[in-house]
Amino acid sequence: MMKTNVVEILDNNTLLLQKIELKGWVRTFRSNRFIALNDGSTIKNIQCVIDFENTPEDTLKRINTGAAIAIKGTLTESQGKGQSVEIQVSEIEILGDSNPDEYPIQPKKHSFEFLRENAHLRTRTNTFSAVMRVRSKLSFAVHQYFQERNFNYVNTPIITGSDAEGAGEMFRVTNFKDNEAPVTEDGKIDYTKDFFGKETNLTVSGQLEAETFAMSLGKAYTFGPTFRAENSNTTRHLAEFWMIEPEVAFMDLDGNMDLAEDFIKNVINSILISCKDDLDFLQQRLTQEEKSKPQAQRSEMTLLEKLKFVVDNNFKRVSYTEAIDILRNSKPNKKKKFQFPINEWGADLQSEHERFLVEKHFKCPVILFDYPANIKAFYMRLNDDGKTVRAMDVLFPGIGEIVGGSQREERYDVLVEKMKALDIPEEELWWYLDLRKFGTAVHSGFGLGFERLVQFVTGMSNIRDVIPFPRTPQNAEF
Ligand code: 4AD
Ligand code: MG
Repeated sequence: MMKTNVVEILDNNTLLLQKIELKGWVRTFRSNRFIALNDGSTIKNIQCVIDFENTPEDTLKRINTGAAIAIKGTLTESQGKGQSVEIQVSEIEILGDSNPDEYPIQPKKHSFEFLRENAHLRTRTNTFSAVMRVRSKLSFAVHQYFQERNFNYVNTPIITGSDAEGAGEMFRVTNFKDNEAPVTEDGKIDYTKDFFGKETNLTVSGQLEAETFAMSLGKAYTFGPTFRAENSNTTRHLAEFWMIEPEVAFMDLDGNMDLAEDFIKNVINSILISCKDDLDFLQQRLTQEEKSKPQAQRSEMTLLEKLKFVVDNNFKRVSYTEAIDILRNSKPNKKKKFQFPINEWGADLQSEHERFLVEKHFKCPVILFDYPANIKAFYMRLNDDGKTVRAMDVLFPGIGEIVGGSQREERYDVLVEKMKALDIPEEELWWYLDLRKFGTAVHSGFGLGFERLVQFVTGMSNIRDVIPFPRTPQNAEF
């Protein structure tokens, strides 16, 4: 008797006619004979054929959708259509019942909203198990990409005193009891008496700490949770998300763009190879979903075509200034179709603009670079024109911004001046400034929102459906 799982059975035809033992959950049970069993190892179910005359009535009644079962039997070529092999069951044991009147995941189509409310069970559906297997393989591909290129994985702190992005969208971390926070003479909360002796928050980015590793180990990357307290109820924002942040010494913005493009192509390509079955399923799902949309909004490409397109084509590199010209003269701008019209140089780009550039104008992934200094973070390197910085954003179809990065300001004096202008206290970031005092050098990096990448690869339209337990405004269930 060989203990096995469904993916092994389907991948390995030496098991044919062997006695095997398998455990999993019932997806469906029909005609008192055929169990579709899924064990999570693959999108595919295996058909288990019961000898119902020799199976006790009581057991048959307990083979309900969602029940956990163990079966022993022989793997044979299937008589029926729809599968190549099946298991002729000789023994069946119900390990855990599932009351059909109460089990929320019935063998029918459920809305994603309903499944979000049942996130603890939604990975028992085809769509969510596929998405989560792809997510897992993508994480591995990320590590593999960097490890094969001698990047060092750095675990940057989750609790931090600094606001890397300067956007002030942080979650406070405190040990003060409700209504018992000590106050200073001028009535402010006295964080010197708090656990860490200073004001602390959940990090919005590991970049600043990752820079210390780039400036010592040369090449580093983070891959960890980050937190943003922005009140954005969109299909692309989470309050807790995972970010990948490579940081490299002696690399300028061009090198940074090359790295981002190569990295994205490489990890997508590895998923095309390692997740074929799941992608095939997700492609069918997306095609079905597209059919319910008006013709004009339907995508011209299938999921796999989109992924291959990204892998095979160069990303278009365009300066912010060129992009503003394109947008200013665009049809939707002239016809006042943009919610935020583009009138002049310096405007911050909204997702509607990014998507116009990617989906309508260039029809391919776009890297925008050299943004106005005053719409970007303090640490970005100032260009000689004195008004733009060496920033870059990678924009993707259906997603918008997937990567944000820059060449870092490596000149001590320029950085200090910038921090003064933005009221960023030097005492807070003394260690960051030290990197510019001792052996400073050109260096660059970027941050890729992992969930946005998973969204793109799986074709899921809502970011809440690509992370196991999403945290969003008014929602921290599970
Ligand atoms: O552009 P952002 O804010 O850049 C940084 O945090 C830099 N410190 C990165 C760096 O240079 N090391 O965020 C980077 C990426 C975005 O492009 C987006 O993909 C993702 O993180 N992101 C979010 N993903 C989900 N939910 C949110 N609320 C996100 N905010 C940013
Ligand atoms: Mg950004």
